Amino acid sequence: MKGILLAGGAGSRLYPLTLVASKQLQPVYDKPMVYYPLTTLIEGGVREFCLISTPQDLPRFRQLFGDGSQWGLSIEYREQAHPQGIAQALRIADTFIGSDPVTLILGDNIFYGGDSFHRAFADFRSGATIFGYHVNDPERYGVVEFDAEGRAISIEEKPARPRSNHAVPGLYLYDNEVVEIARNLQPSARGELEITDVNLEYLRRGALRVCRLTRGFAWLDAGTSSSLHEASAYVQTIEKRQGIKVGCPEEAAFRRGFISLPEFEKLIGRLPRCEYRTYLEAVAAEAHGA
Ligand code: TTP
Repeated sequence: MKGILLAGGAGSRLYPLTLVASKQLQPVYDKPMVYYPLTTLIEGGVREFCLISTPQDLPRFRQLFGDGSQWGLSIEYREQAHPQGIAQALRIADTFIGSDPVTLILGDNIFYGGDSFHRAFADFRSGATIFGYHVNDPERYGVVEFDAEGRAISIEEKPARPRSNHAVPGLYLYDNEVVEIARNLQPSARGELEITDVNLEYLRRGALRVCRLTRGFAWLDAGTSSSLHEASAYVQTIEKRQGIKVGCPEEAAFRRGFISLPEFEKLIGRLPRCEYRTYLEAVAAEAHGA
């Protein structure tokens, strides 16, 4: 499965922070925000990536990740000239997708806990898989409604009167039909190519699976100053308490077998002396002991 990391957008709610760096490059506790969604996809087994961002910000991402080979990945880069909707990413990346299935993740979505994603990636065969997560403020998101049997029956984008509390987080898995579906999309009333319209098309075709994320699962969206601050505090709390890092691509690539132990250690050797390096050294030492 190929992976699209969408890291463009205006980031207007984070002004003036976004004068300095794009939203997805802002720190979430001890790493850039984009590390978290990248790690989520690596954990799902994705190795081939297309990172999409604005023409201004793309060079910075390129500098940060290069071609991805240091982590056993391949990363290519594409521009979104104007933020005309999340589903536009599927059009921008159509030749990257080729004839494969694809997963799309938003660069400001942070996920932690449970094995729901792991299972969703492993079980994915065809159609689309999206998720439902209980939130307090569903009107800010795509909202999914379930029938008594737990089947999805409607999805509405930012409804004034949500039919449920289940928002759709920014991680979507699609079969290759998505290329044609994205090609045929029409802009919505707000002038965007809506990812909700892609999901609705799969619902219409009877090919949409909505997995409900359970209570123990954290989904954080770091798009406002206070949610960014809360995300940092959350990550710090987990990391301090558990002594493990959340959103660490080097570790995920190693655990997934994308890089060998000697490659992992070589990578660590190139890092400056810092807490991040000490952590990775401990992961490597544990692997030696195992
Ligand atoms: P939003 O948070 O909805 O939009 P934004 O990032 O432009 O922020 P703001 O509302 O504060 O101006 O976008 C969700 C994610 O999707 C975010 O990571 C940016 C990304 N995105 C794009 O890359 N291109 C787009 O056209 C849109 C709509 C979003």
